[in-house]
Amino acid sequence: MKLFDVYPIQPIAIVKAKGSYVWDENGQQYLDMYGGHAVISIGHTHPHYVKRITDQLNKVGFYSNSIRIPLQEELAEKLGRISGKPDYQLFLCNSGAEANENALKLASFFNGRSKIISFSRSFHGRTSLAVAVTDNPAIVAPVNRNDQVIFLPFNDEQALEACFDSMGGEISSVIIEGIQGVGGIHEASDTFLQKIRSLCTSHNALFIADSVQCGYGRTGQFFSHDHAGVQADIYTMAKGMGNGFPVAAILIAPHIRPKHGMLGTTFGGNHLACAAALAVLEVIEAENLLENAAQVGTYIRESLRDMPQIQQVRGRGLMIGFEVSPELKDLRKNLLSGSRVFTGEAKPNVIRLLPSLALRKKEADEFLESVREQIQLLAPSLNNVH
Ligand SMILES: Cc1ncc(COP(=O)(O)O)c(C=O)c1O
Repeated sequence: MKLFDVYPIQPIAIVKAKGSYVWDENGQQYLDMYGGHAVISIGHTHPHYVKRITDQLNKVGFYSNSIRIPLQEELAEKLGRISGKPDYQLFLCNSGAEANENALKLASFFNGRSKIISFSRSFHGRTSLAVAVTDNPAIVAPVNRNDQVIFLPFNDEQALEACFDSMGGEISSVIIEGIQGVGGIHEASDTFLQKIRSLCTSHNALFIADSVQCGYGRTGQFFSHDHAGVQADIYTMAKGMGNGFPVAAILIAPHIRPKHGMLGTTFGGNHLACAAALAVLEVIEAENLLENAAQVGTYIRESLRDMPQIQQVRGRGLMIGFEVSPELKDLRKNLLSGSRVFTGEAKPNVIRLLPSLALRKKEADEFLESVREQIQLLAPSLNNVH
């Protein structure tokens, strides 16, 4: 049997990983500035994480949600405290798309409405509703097309107000990434998030903060939406939550009441997933990783801004994007082949950095030196441009 060929893949197989480094089958070491797509939050194979999952597997790995799972309660308590949302409720699931799917569905159950506002360049996942609110027609199959979704321009307060003015009574929810990831590292402005909050409150619509990529401490605050001082009604999260173990969740504001059978999943919140998620939070707390993400992220962004050949350095904490000019279109490829550094991309020409929140300054320096070197090799004449 062949694999279904849907991913453009690098011909590299990773066989070992530690902290912010990975190694291929030939023993070649790579610096991981991509974090396996924002997933590696506390660093690869962190010893506490490995031990907690191993210990749990030796006790019980899985039982269904038909019984009490005290690890879920422990996780809810810890997550509530560390995220600063102790009065919210936790529903556990398995992936980012599933989290968004549940959030959108829950909003519709809550207010009995079906229209959803989403924004240009957004990405929310590939399941039916999640992809319907994603602004990329190429990945929306005919069966996913949905005339309940209204796409508005990102950060356009007037368009948002006009939409609520004309159909506020039909809007079930507004879904927004605090920083768009796949869309190219674009931040929602504080005033835009505040406007969403006030319009949702006055029209009884729910504010869904997609924190799958920009959340879980990546920007230096637990949720990137926190920088704007707003409280969403539902936060969705996944990637960094399990440091590679598939676990996702939604945090639900206290005024949204549960009903048996309303949401459900077989695997969500299983013993192993909870052990992984708890280990991640324990390390985030013990090693002050939010503060580290803020500090090392600022250092990288400032250093990149000092490089005259690089344009538009964007982002917060360790969610960083920068644009490269046509002369440097091969920079990402060459960072991998020439300097053995993994980075991410966003089409057409943005290099995305999503490393572990535990990235150290000396690893950041190693990355920055590689960028300088590869720019010099690719386009020496750019060196004097300001
Ligand atoms: C903002 C955002 N939401 C949702 C998703 C979907 O997550 P998953 O791939 O775990 O379904 C992603 C994945 O990249 C994402 O970046």
